[in-house]
Amino acid sequence: MYKELIKPLLFLMDAEHAHEWAIWIANKTNRSDILQDIVRRLYGVADANSSEQIWGLHFNNPLGLAAGFDKNGTTPRAMQALGFGFVEVGSITAHSSTGNPKPRAFRLPKDHSLINRMGLNNEGATKIIERLKKLQLDIPLGVNIAKTNDPTIEGGAAVEDYVESYLLAQQVADYITINISCPNTGEGKTFEDPGALSELLVGIKQKASQLDLPAKQQGTSFSSTYAHVPTTVKFSVDTTHKDLVKLVAICEDYGIDGYVATNTSNSRQGLLHSQQELSAIGRGGLSGRAIAKRSLEMTRWLSEELAGGKPIISVGGIDSVNTALERLEAGAHLLQIYTGLIYEGPGLVSDIANACTHN
Ligand code: FNR
Repeated sequence: MYKELIKPLLFLMDAEHAHEWAIWIANKTNRSDILQDIVRRLYGVADANSSEQIWGLHFNNPLGLAAGFDKNGTTPRAMQALGFGFVEVGSITAHSSTGNPKPRAFRLPKDHSLINRMGLNNEGATKIIERLKKLQLDIPLGVNIAKTNDPTIEGGAAVEDYVESYLLAQQVADYITINISCPNTGEGKTFEDPGALSELLVGIKQKASQLDLPAKQQGTSFSSTYAHVPTTVKFSVDTTHKDLVKLVAICEDYGIDGYVATNTSNSRQGLLHSQQELSAIGRGGLSGRAIAKRSLEMTRWLSEELAGGKPIISVGGIDSVNTALERLEAGAHLLQIYTGLIYEGPGLVSDIANACTHN
């Protein structure tokens, strides 16, 4: 039904309007047990015999919702009903932001891909964490944190900005993802720069370890040397092998508990859309099928580098059972999707979740 009826209607709207509509429906579902029951009957995932224990957390199935879909944490229960094994909300930032001027999300249908430059629009960490405190969820909740979209916040202030979000996220998250693809200098140098990453991890680790946390957040960390809540770092798909090795070494030094690979790409190579169409869209992060190959490659690199020592969440262009299983074979422990949902519809969740738990 999605591909025949709903998708053609959604694709008549501009990409962001379609997303707002989807969030509106998901939010209504999030607030209604009856609607969640209907969603479960329509799309539900069969009870699995197998289940994963990662970071001491129980995952019914390894498929999660990627960051960026639910930036404000208004839909996790709806996503649980749809069959996701876990949900990552955010990116949240210390200060709220309306993001970049619109239009800022574009479909590339021939490539089953998207380009977005949303600019970390979100309601701000304090408000979102208060909302999440009231949430009753049976699946693990990840909170993705980033630096507030404000070019005047840089250097030490940028680290403080992350720390503020981290400390708030610790109150509700089962795991926290640090999104390091955020500018930290006027020239656009990001936290993927080794020096900046070290400063960031030092800052977070120092502050986080000074906190007294409720029992739920204690002792679940993969690495006992790190902060109380298992913490992952998310890499851009454009990271080279050499840089990845360097960045992983830094993360390991600070006891990071796992890795998310990958975020979007700045590259436009190999796309089926014309140069003219791409120029008209302009800058932004590419997601979907167009980055699948590179995201798979990075999952393999990480798997080799870590030799099974830390969990890997693979994300980027997963849009079928086959592409999902391929990631697990490549060494991923958990998976996430976003763009695939838009092109394949909500049934993709149960298709992948069932295939992963009954294989
Ligand atoms: C994203 N993504 C993202 N990632 C992140 O860490 N923080 C964020 O705020 C966002 N925001 C965001 C908005 C939009 C519109 C898209 C399409 C994506 C990246 C996302 O989590 C994921 O890493 C990539 O999209 C690759 O996965 P898919 O979409 O190919 O399955």
